[in-house]
Order: sequence, then C-alpha cells, then structure tokens
Amino acid sequence: MIKVSNLSKQYVGRTAVDDISFNVKSGEIVGFLGPNGAGKTTTIRILTGYIPPTSGTALIGGHDIFHQSLLAKKNIGYMPENVPLYEDMRVKEYLQFRGELKGLRGKDLKKSMHETLDLCSIKNIKGQMISSLSKGFRQRVGLADALINKPPLLIFDEPTNGLDPSQIRSFRDLLKELGNKHTILISTHILREVELTCDRVLILNKGKIIGNDSPSELSQRIQSSSIINLEIKTQARDCRDIISNIPGIKKITLENETEGWQFIRIRVDYGNDVREKIMNLAHDNKWTIREIHHQRTNLEDTFIELIQNKNN
Ligand SMILES: Nc1ncnc2c1ncn2[C@@H]1O[C@H](COP(=O)(O)OP(=O)(O)OP(=O)(O)O)[C@@H](O)[C@H]1O
Ligand SMILES: [Mg+2]
Repeated sequence: MIKVSNLSKQYVGRTAVDDISFNVKSGEIVGFLGPNGAGKTTTIRILTGYIPPTSGTALIGGHDIFHQSLLAKKNIGYMPENVPLYEDMRVKEYLQFRGELKGLRGKDLKKSMHETLDLCSIKNIKGQMISSLSKGFRQRVGLADALINKPPLLIFDEPTNGLDPSQIRSFRDLLKELGNKHTILISTHILREVELTCDRVLILNKGKIIGNDSPSELSQRIQSSSIINLEIKTQARDCRDIISNIPGIKKITLENETEGWQFIRIRVDYGNDVREKIMNLAHDNKWTIREIHHQRTNLEDTFIELIQNKNN
C-alpha cells in the first residue's frame, strides 16, 4: 500500500528526512515513532502529497504521490497534526463539504455521512458550530473527514494529542476497529498506543529509520538483558555471592536494605529466567523470599535505549 524508496527532504540548511525506505503492506497497522523533530510530520506530509521530497519516491497504492498525485491521494484519508477545520460551519455542513470535495454526491454522500457520524460518535453534535467544539470533538470531526470517502489507507499524525485518557482509550478501540478494514499509518508519542494497537513500528530518529519490527520483536532484538527483582531475608551475608554463581547472571546489586529485607536487582542475559534456580537455592539455604519478579522490558525501554545508543 505504501512503498517509500530513498526518500529525503532538505529544508534550508537542515535535513529533516534522510534517505529512508520502508513499505507498509495492505491491512497493516504501522506505528511511526520518534522524538520531537525526528521527521515524522515531514514524512507524512510527503506521503500525503502536501510537500514534495527533495529526492526519492513514495508510491501509494502503486501511484507516485508526486507525479500521479490525484490517483495516489484517492487512496488516502489524512488526519494532520493540528486538524484544520472551518470554525464557522456546522459539523454536518463541514462533513458534507469535505465529502463533496472528495467526489461523493447524492445518496452515496448521505449514506457515507450517516455511517461516519455514527462511527466517530458525533451524531449528537452534528448541528453544532465547529467553533464551539472541545478539543476531543474537533479531533473526531477531523477523523470523520479522513474517513468520509472510506479510503483504504488512513494516515494519522499524532491523533491523540491533547485528548484525555478516556478519549485516548476510545480512540484506541476505534483504531482497532478501523484496522479491520483499512491500512493505517499512525504517528504518536504514546508508546502504549503502539504496543497495544500496531502490528509493526517504525522508529525514526534525526531523519533516519533506526527500527522496523513488531513491538515485541523490537524489544527483544535491542534488549540484550533483562532484570529480576528479588526481596529476600536471610542472616547469611553471602546470599548474593551464592546467587551470582548461577550461570548467565551478568550483574547483581543490593539496591537497599530495610528491616532485614534486602532488595536485590539481578541482570541476566535476555530470556534467561533464573527464578526457579533462585527459589531452589532459597529452599536449600533457608532464605525467606517475599518477592521475585521478572521485569519485562517494554517498548518504552527499547525506544529510549535505541535513541540513546544512536546519540552516543
Ligand atoms: N517548514 C519547515 N522549514 C524548515 N524546517 C522545518 C520545517 N518543518 C520542519 N522542519 C524541521 O525538520 C525537522 C523535522 O521536523 P518534523 O516536524 O518532521 O518532526 P516530527 O518528528 O514531526 O516532530 P514532532 O514530534 O515535534 O511533531 C525538524 O528539525 C524541524 O525543525
Ligand atoms: Mg510532528
């Protein structure tokens, strides 16, 4: 659905996107992640035909977004970073106007408006002036605009920016529903969003793609170790020495000690779960354990690790 080859964008004195290539297959939900200024919006603006690349190509549904822009754009529903809406229109008028611009007429337009108002839960406010809408409802109208002509590809730039947690959750549910019928590219800062909803994540940093994997594969690939947290009580001062003899333990540290309980952090090779061995040692040595916990690394750890590695 999307095929990006060696795409670059230079603004005066600054490279915003630096020779990136990636594909998005039909039916995929792909998260576009990266710190501020990474080049997400620039890439999205090229993909949606708003600005030309300096070099490289982007095909949408097989059509070059620059040279066959009308054909390519027909495939795309785009919700930009700051949804531009006409303040002095009512929601219904605005959607009708946008539907007509996208070529819908008569019965088709009516049906589509009805379905889209429903899907975006804005039926109740269809008669309201856009200027009077809260941020969350504005976002939904922006979303309705992107969906009105049922394009196969949806591109959302930070769609949950400024929404409250319950609105974010309903957006996440809607995204999953939309994912059944559309290919989706979504840029976001909310890593949890990506972990919960995306099949694949592209990580962009300083204009370059530095990660392209499923959220869990990415965590596994990058993370070379994981952590076991242990709370243990024993008179024996050498328990840490005994534990550190277990094969695969990289580092063992006493984080703190209160009322006889030692809080110990154990770094092990990735995937080497030594909890059972520790429990056996505790049994043999009569140590008391009140917590042993395998700390899973999440996308946030991976993301930060990736970006720090690249910046160092
Ligand atoms: N019109 C412009 N003229 C000059 N430089 C620009 C322009 N738009 C963006 N840039 C620069 O290009 C780089 C990438 O910006 P971009 O908006 O694509 O980042 P982003 O990943 O979307 O960031 P954010 O998470 O803050 O939205 C930044 O250094 C930015 O300052
Ligand atoms: Mg941006």
